[in-house]
Amino acid sequence: MSLSKEEFADLLVVKDLTKSFNGNAALSRVSFSLRNGGGGVVLLVGPNGAGKTTFLDVVCGFLRPDLGQVFFEGRDVTNLPSEKTARAGVTRSFQEIRVLRQMTVMDNLVMASRCFVGIEVVTALLKDRKGPHEIRERAGSILNEFDLYGKRDRLAKDLSFGEMKLVGLGRALMKGGRLFLLDEPIAGLSERAMEKVIQIIASLVRDGKAVVAAEHKFQPLLNFCERMVVLCAGEKIADGLPHEVLAGPSTTIIYAGQGHDA
Ligand SMILES: Nc1ncnc2c1ncn2[C@@H]1O[C@H](COP(=O)(O)OP(=O)(O)OP(=O)(O)O)[C@@H](O)[C@H]1O
Ligand SMILES: [Mg+2]
Repeated sequence: MSLSKEEFADLLVVKDLTKSFNGNAALSRVSFSLRNGGGGVVLLVGPNGAGKTTFLDVVCGFLRPDLGQVFFEGRDVTNLPSEKTARAGVTRSFQEIRVLRQMTVMDNLVMASRCFVGIEVVTALLKDRKGPHEIRERAGSILNEFDLYGKRDRLAKDLSFGEMKLVGLGRALMKGGRLFLLDEPIAGLSERAMEKVIQIIASLVRDGKAVVAAEHKFQPLLNFCERMVVLCAGEKIADGLPHEVLAGPSTTIIYAGQGHDA
């Protein structure tokens, strides 16, 4: 299937994404598109098991869909390996903690820029801690924003859950890109860490990046959010302005996904 002229100009076009695990549908013909330069955050919501993570995994190339296509900036990236999709400008952060636990906080961020500078340069960087300035400076300023600069030489495994999660987000920021797919970026964070992440998301939006954030407790992000997409049992059941979606028929499903303390 090819793109229309309008779709060709879009940042992201997802058509009929379908993915099953052991015969159980995690995504059923989900279609979604993002305008180029649209700005704002798209919140992806829905109960546990709705297919949010699977959706992000298929868009960034970690998983192959059974059916459907993903186009990024007019290019079919459906069957590209995730490193190539990342290089094209799609960056992913993870719901679970994914950091290099035996490495220092600084090296975690430096390593994340691998796909842009080449593995040889990163190896050199890790050996020679003075390394090319730009990468370490960029890593340092991200750590500073997260109040983690003072812990830059600690091993990642010795950080708290919230701090490790920030390192994971810092790694995503080091990769750069035009589209950020954030899986539960604020879940489980302290108030203070959550504020930091919200500021970072706001600055991504100000810089013209597109952000799709899957989140159960999305209220703190609503101010930056221009669109809400609801998945339920692998199907897209709503897609529109947040206040309209929240006032619509899927609201019970959305709030059911938040548990009792929402
Ligand atoms: N690797 C896998 N193997 C088998 N089943 C999977 C796998 N990944 C996801 N699933 C199933 O696919 C469905 C969608 O899961 P997914 O993790 O995408 O949901 P989610 O909306 O991200 O949920 P949560 O809010 O709990 O993170 C669920 O039924 C889940 O059990
Ligand atoms: Mg998930």
